[in-house]
Amino acid sequence: MKLLVVCLGNICRSPMAEGALRARLAASPLAGRVQVDSAGTGDWHVGQPPDPRAIACAAGHGVDIAGLRARQLQRADFDSFDWVLCADDANLRDAARWAPAARRERLALYLPWAGGPAGQAIPDPYTGSRADFEHVWALVDAAAGRVVARLLHDADSGIIGP
Ligand code: 4NP
Repeated sequence: MKLLVVCLGNICRSPMAEGALRARLAASPLAGRVQVDSAGTGDWHVGQPPDPRAIACAAGHGVDIAGLRARQLQRADFDSFDWVLCADDANLRDAARWAPAARRERLALYLPWAGGPAGQAIPDPYTGSRADFEHVWALVDAAAGRVVARLLHDADSGIIGP
């Protein structure tokens, strides 16, 4: 199983979501069985580490995302990932333009896909405060917990392989 989380810059929301997923997967029986990556629809920050505020927020929750580097979403990602999971509606719209028609059903808004409320977006904290980053963390960490629970259930049901 391979999951790709997508936001705009790949320096705030999607690396935080990636870090939360990696941490919760590593602490679960699924360790080593699910691959997680993140990307941005934009290219402004390609090659850069996450925003220092995102790094500090994740670190405050015991998760190190300082080694991640931003990259831009590529068309090939739709072939190599099982799911491309977007932070907000604009990301979803932009990603849908690049997705081969046959892969659009593997494109979704992340929080609802993870079992959250229909239509719920991860708000962009880039121009916000430390509290906005904390809010993003709370959303992506809760989502990560739900994703791991669901994938564990799928693994028990044989839906995802070893
Ligand atoms: P992200 O946040 O999409 O969560 O990584 C942003 C990062 C950079 C910009 C906007 C949002 N920007 O305009 O450079």
